[in-house]
Amino acid sequence: MAGRVEGRVAVVTGAAGGLGREFCAALAREGAAHVIGVDIADQAGTAEAVEEAGGRFVAIRADITEEAECAAVAARAEEYGGAQILVNNAGVFPVRPFLETSLEEWRRIHRLNVEGTFLITRALLPQAIRAGWGRIVMVSSAVVWLGPPGMVAYTASKAALVGMVRGLAREVGDTGVTVNALTPGLTRTRTALTTDVHEQFPHVVAHQAVPRAEEASDLTSTLLFLCDQGSAFVTGQAVNVDGGYALH
Ligand SMILES: NC(=O)c1ccc[n+]([C@@H]2O[C@H](COP(=O)([O-])OP(=O)(O)OC[C@H]3O[C@@H](n4cnc5c(N)ncnc54)[C@H](O)[C@@H]3O)[C@@H](O)[C@H]2O)c1
Repeated sequence: MAGRVEGRVAVVTGAAGGLGREFCAALAREGAAHVIGVDIADQAGTAEAVEEAGGRFVAIRADITEEAECAAVAARAEEYGGAQILVNNAGVFPVRPFLETSLEEWRRIHRLNVEGTFLITRALLPQAIRAGWGRIVMVSSAVVWLGPPGMVAYTASKAALVGMVRGLAREVGDTGVTVNALTPGLTRTRTALTTDVHEQFPHVVAHQAVPRAEEASDLTSTLLFLCDQGSAFVTGQAVNVDGGYALH
């Protein structure tokens, strides 16, 4: 039986671990011709996970906040026929009270979460348009519905992705490319478990309808749904997967 993304070339940013690795393996399992991981960190673990899933993995070490490096990623993707699926997953999510947020910190968060996403999307989108088929998924966050204290800069950056989704979905609506966001709740990745955000797990779990911590694997079915051949009419949306904390 054909996979849900059979024969598609998929690019996943921030693919070295966490959600990115899980997304790469899921796309491979569902028949992607190549999964291209983009990260500033080593992607050996993801290469293994994709191979175990029966897929082909291409690791590109690139910083998506650098325009020239995004152009280099696009040139590499061309070698495999061009990217048709782009999962914009690279991001940082620090905890810091608003009044203690320096301009430098605000810019660091927005530079990766917003500018980086803009640059890599602008670099790869022409390939999907040329193919007449594309799926762009922004990994935003359930914080855009919840507005937790201590994460204002992060929340603003992830809300910017929802704005990007809405505008871009309309701009490319007649090209066969859909643009959507996925908003995960607090999820047990290594980064979430080893940074200040880990203190929020008990509070978050207590407020979810499903009373357990979210795992990266809880997100893959929604990612695949957004990338599915049959989801051509789903665009401009932000789909929440947070165990029923934000009810909207
Ligand atoms: N884990 C959570 O609780 C959670 C919840 C909601 C949303 N998210 C979002 O999901 C995404 C992944 O989160 P995660 O928990 O897997 O974290 P993670 O730290 O494992 O993933 C982020 C990846 O981005 C990479 N990266 C950083 N700067 C980069 C750059 N300039 N260019 C390319 N790659 C770069 C990192 O090396 C890392 O591999 C993030 O955007 C995060 O905001 C996470």
